[in-house]
Amino acid sequence: MSKYENDIVKMLLESNTSVSGQKIAEQLNISRTAVWKAIDQLKDRGYKIESISNKGYLLVAFPKQWDGHLLSSILERSSLFNKGYIFEELKSTQDEAEKIALSESQPFIVISEKQTEGRGRFKRHWSSQPNTGLWMSIVLQPDISLQKLTTFNLFIALALAKTVGYYHPDVKIKWPNDIYLNEKKLSGFLTEIKGSQDNITQIICGIGVNLNTQRTDFPNELESTATSLHIETGDNIDRYEFLERLILNVEKYYYLFLTGTFSEIKDEYESYALIFDRTLKYTEGSRVIIGQADSLNNDGTLNVKSAEGDMHRFISADIEL
Ligand code: BTN
Repeated sequence: MSKYENDIVKMLLESNTSVSGQKIAEQLNISRTAVWKAIDQLKDRGYKIESISNKGYLLVAFPKQWDGHLLSSILERSSLFNKGYIFEELKSTQDEAEKIALSESQPFIVISEKQTEGRGRFKRHWSSQPNTGLWMSIVLQPDISLQKLTTFNLFIALALAKTVGYYHPDVKIKWPNDIYLNEKKLSGFLTEIKGSQDNITQIICGIGVNLNTQRTDFPNELESTATSLHIETGDNIDRYEFLERLILNVEKYYYLFLTGTFSEIKDEYESYALIFDRTLKYTEGSRVIIGQADSLNNDGTLNVKSAEGDMHRFISADIEL
C-alpha cells in the first residue's frame, strides 16, 4: 500500500466533488501516470472511483472490506488513537493487540475482518463472521489504580450506547458490558488489564458489534438472543461511519473516565439502563441471586435486592434476562 494511495484517498475524501488528475499530481509531486496507476490499485482494493471526463476522479464507494487507508484517515481525526492495524483473519484481536502492545507505547486499535477464536466474557465464544460487524480491540496505557478502573466499563458502555443511538433510539445498556436492542444482544465488550494493584498500565478492551449481520449468519444457538443493527433498522450500516462515531465517543468518555468520576455520567448512564425494575438472575462466581437491581454505586458496582429483601453488591455479574 503506497503512501500515494493513502494521500489520494485523503484528497478524494476531503473533496465533495471530483478531483482532477492534474491537481493530484501537482499536490503529491508525482506524474499523471503515477496518479493513474495508484487509482487503478485503489480500484483493485475495492474502492469505487469514477473517472469523469474533463473533471477528474470521484470517490463513490468504499471497499467492502476493512481498509487501512480509510482507517488512517479516520484516525487522523482522533486525538487519542494515532495508529490502527487491520487484519483479514486473526484468532482474536485481543491476542494480536497484546502482542503489538509489547512494542507500542501509544494508544492504538486492532481490527480484524474475521476472528476464528473470538472470545467473550466467561470464556464464551464470540461469533465473528467476515464483512458483517466490527471486531476491534483498543489498547490504552493509563496510569491509574485498580480502584479507579472499576468504572471503566461503564464509560465504555456509554460510549457504545451513544454510538448505537445514532441508528436506533431504543438502545439499552445491560450492566456491565453488553448493549441490547429490543431485548437482544447487539454488542459486548471485554476488558483485560496489565499492571499491579496500584498501577494499571495497560487496558485491552475488545469490542464486538453486530452491524450488517443477517439472522441466518448467527449460529443456531444465538438466533433468538442476538441481533444486529441491520436486523433492527433494515438499513445497511456503513461500517466506517459507525467506527468513526464509536472512536470519537470512546475518546470522549475515556477522557471523562480519566479526569472525572462515575457520578458525572450516572444520570446519562441510567437513562440507558436495561436491568432496573425487573426480577433477574445474577451470577458472580458461585454466588447466585434472584433479585432486582436497586442502585449503582459511584465505583460502578451494582446493588441487587434479593427476593428475601437482602442487599447484595456485585462487581460484575452474568445476568439472565
Ligand atoms: C462479551 O459480550 O462477552 C464480550 C464480547 C467481546 C467480543 C470482542 S470482538 C473483538 C475482541 N476480540 C475478541 O476475541 N473478543 C473481543
